[in-house]
Amino acid sequence: MLKTSDIKDLKLAPEGKLKIEWSGQLMPVLKIIKERFSKEKPLRGYTLAACLHITSETANLLTTLEAGGAKVVACASNPLSTQDSVAASLFKDFGISTFAIKGEDNKTYYKHLNQVLNYRPNITMDDGGDLIHLLHTQRQKQLSDIIGSSEETTTGVTRLRAMEKEGELRVPVVAVNDSDTKHLFDNRYGTGQSTIDGIIRATNILLAGKTFVTAGYGWCSRGIAIRAKGHGANVIITEVDPIRALEAAMDGYRVMKMKDAVEIGDIFVSATGDKHVITVENVRKMKDGAIIANSGHFDVEIDVAGIEKIKKSKRKIRNSLEEYVLPGGKKVYLLGEGRLVNLAAAEGHPAEVMDMSFANQALAAEYFVKNKDKLENKIYTLPKELDMQVARLKLNAMGVDIDTLTAEQKRYLSSWNEGTK
Ligand code: ADE
Repeated sequence: MLKTSDIKDLKLAPEGKLKIEWSGQLMPVLKIIKERFSKEKPLRGYTLAACLHITSETANLLTTLEAGGAKVVACASNPLSTQDSVAASLFKDFGISTFAIKGEDNKTYYKHLNQVLNYRPNITMDDGGDLIHLLHTQRQKQLSDIIGSSEETTTGVTRLRAMEKEGELRVPVVAVNDSDTKHLFDNRYGTGQSTIDGIIRATNILLAGKTFVTAGYGWCSRGIAIRAKGHGANVIITEVDPIRALEAAMDGYRVMKMKDAVEIGDIFVSATGDKHVITVENVRKMKDGAIIANSGHFDVEIDVAGIEKIKKSKRKIRNSLEEYVLPGGKKVYLLGEGRLVNLAAAEGHPAEVMDMSFANQALAAEYFVKNKDKLENKIYTLPKELDMQVARLKLNAMGVDIDTLTAEQKRYLSSWNEGTK
């Protein structure tokens, strides 16, 4: 007998339902897709397992997929990102089997992943690649049920590219992250705003005048940097990629090595997708009172285990804010246990950007069904036309009108014999 849910408290459902409703009205592109899905039922007959952050925005995606005819089951893609009220409402009000409890331990986290896989999905949706990893390692017999898996985030796509390169990928994948209407907006403006939101909710500090160190200058980190700068912080970027470092320098930031930044920074945020970007040695050199946060998908960017090992003591100061006393008496402050600060200490990206990310997710599910006989075990990006369609729908919803090419301009762009006159 399949278990139908594991959530914190069903009594939270009314609060969650209102949150879902509020986000829904900020997601007009997804709403248009939902209306079409309700009529066309493109996902009828398919079971879809989603391992995503269980937020009010995700709830709107899940109900869209269900409107499209899919049987939907969901679990959390991070132990700290679940909104318990949303999980309760998903189950109680929308009948979606949900396995997610904020603060669940690692064992429960993986139990929940296995519980959604017990539904024998045909399509999976990941944010970080944990479901697809489990399918390829411990539940390989189920791989033949899968017509496609979509991936939401840069970190997940990096893992999948490693699998593809080693010939280990055994299902077709759509890298939703790689659509322009996803990473240019969600990663940049979404992570930018929600990371600052998490830092402020956890600490209530003033950013103006602070030295704010951002590790990395990819789409997420540049979003964080520009928002920190907008608050009046002096922003330092650390990078390993010379082109990105150059961009950061020409965007007006100071660029230096982490070992130098640790001596002067007040706040540190890592969003590189790599591990041990902030090491114990870095932390030892930080100023008394330094604040450290992670905004990358996995909790590997800061060597939290290393800090735990050397600490003299630790105490919780506020929600998502822990004080570590280091040998010699220096204090540093870690936000959200070193997990994604924007989801652990705040509510993740605003609905307006998740609107486009999740429009792409819904279209990816439909893409798998439409193309199931053609797709190979490779990583695909959704066709450019779908990306443009999402952008057009978003502009339309925002009331923004844009120009179109005239016939003469189109001809000019496709010809090669008009030059200097
Ligand atoms: N990832 C980042 N922000 C998110 C949100 N609000 N909902 C789901 N996934 C997210």
